[in-house]
Amino acid sequence: MPSNTLSITDNRTGKTYEVPIAEGTIRATDLRKIKVVDDDFGLMTYDPAFMNTAACRSAITFIDGDKGILEYRGYPIEQLAEKSTYLETAYLLLNGELPNKAQLAQWTHDVTHHTFINENLKSLLDAFRYNAHPMGKLISTLAALGTFYPEAKSIFDVECRNKQITRLVAKMITIAAFGYRHMVGQPYAYPDNDLSYPGNFLNMMYKTTEAKYTPNPALEHALDVLFILHADHEQNCSTNAMRAVGSSHVDPYSAVAAAAAALYGPLHGGANEEVIRMLTEIESVNNVPAFIGKVKAGEGVRLMGFGHRVYKNYDPRARIIKKVAYEVFEVTGKNPLLDIALELERIALEDEYFVKRKLYPNVDFYSGLIYQAMKFPMDMFTTLFAIPRVSGWLAQWQEMLQDADQKIARPRQIYIGKARRDFVPMERRS
Ligand code: ACO
Repeated sequence: MPSNTLSITDNRTGKTYEVPIAEGTIRATDLRKIKVVDDDFGLMTYDPAFMNTAACRSAITFIDGDKGILEYRGYPIEQLAEKSTYLETAYLLLNGELPNKAQLAQWTHDVTHHTFINENLKSLLDAFRYNAHPMGKLISTLAALGTFYPEAKSIFDVECRNKQITRLVAKMITIAAFGYRHMVGQPYAYPDNDLSYPGNFLNMMYKTTEAKYTPNPALEHALDVLFILHADHEQNCSTNAMRAVGSSHVDPYSAVAAAAAALYGPLHGGANEEVIRMLTEIESVNNVPAFIGKVKAGEGVRLMGFGHRVYKNYDPRARIIKKVAYEVFEVTGKNPLLDIALELERIALEDEYFVKRKLYPNVDFYSGLIYQAMKFPMDMFTTLFAIPRVSGWLAQWQEMLQDADQKIARPRQIYIGKARRDFVPMERRS
């Protein structure tokens, strides 16, 4: 008779335990009853980097890494990229359902009317050197932003929480664009409420002396699609940071700053920048085979923009981005690095090294090429990723706060240090 349990025999004691299986998992705490002696701590699992540990139950994003499927709240990413807007998708992630007309109008109005940032934040930005990395400025500004809203600590007050969510989604484009203007030494350009979310971002990035900035519709649309694709990706490194830091019940600005810091790393959101550096270094299509050879030789060189912890198939976002890239290049002209990228992809997808390890292009492989063609400086690429990911971080954070199973995140360790010993006075140390 099949049963939804797991029988475990501890060969140290000969005892057998029965542990319930639910939703394809066992509860790690159920293993604690497996002991050799009564005052044993009980069995733990060792899972560095969470390779096989579900840390939450989530209803936000579904990924099937083997089949290359990505869905937000059940909606396939391909359909959202084609039919939705970033703001509508953010609403979906945050609220669980697509908005009706009135809800979307209200949400769009609220976000549009919260894009201003306190003028004091300009002094904070001015304190940075002209060449400060935009992610350093973004992380700092996000943390500083929270100091303007001390009420944000009331994280269990739904109305207050929603207000901070609106503020964070809205102000991301302003903070990111102001960071850019600071970098290039141009006066800050203020939001224009007549524009869409991505259009307004382009306005704050690139408006100069014209009375009114009109974004190119193709570029505005491409950016919106990129924002949709980057909005959430279930329990990735930065989302895990958001949940872990948020689990201390800190305000959402501080938790978002921590998540943004996690995103900054080259193995995560920093990869799109690394892809462009890699393509620039390869220099020509002729050098691609030699570069692939270096990657395979394991000389510490990775094919950036390839491989993923979850996708063991083509990242569905990479497929959509590749299409968007061609649409952007029609306006901007082809990015000369595209041919190198295509050749890298062609060779890698046929090469046994990459095939065996199931390494496929990820979201970052082509996004950098688009950003570069749209004249975003390379340093800004991760910021472009962070802008929409804020909605995912906040949706995940909110879900965590409402989940009765969750407590402050606190992993265990296997202590491998010295056993207890007495302090050695200085004169007796060698
Ligand atoms: N180039 C060459 N070899 C690779 C690559 C790569 N990009 N990625 C993984 N491998 C190899 C590893 O060397 C390893 O080989 P081995 O079995 O011979 O030791 C094998 O594939 C498995 O790799 P892991 O590092 O164990 O896989 P993990 O799941 O830990 O790493 C990661 C995933 C970090 C994304 C990795 O593929 C990588 O570094 N890629 C390049 C950086 C990148 O593009 N990051 C963006 C990810 S998408 C995002 O964060 C939005």
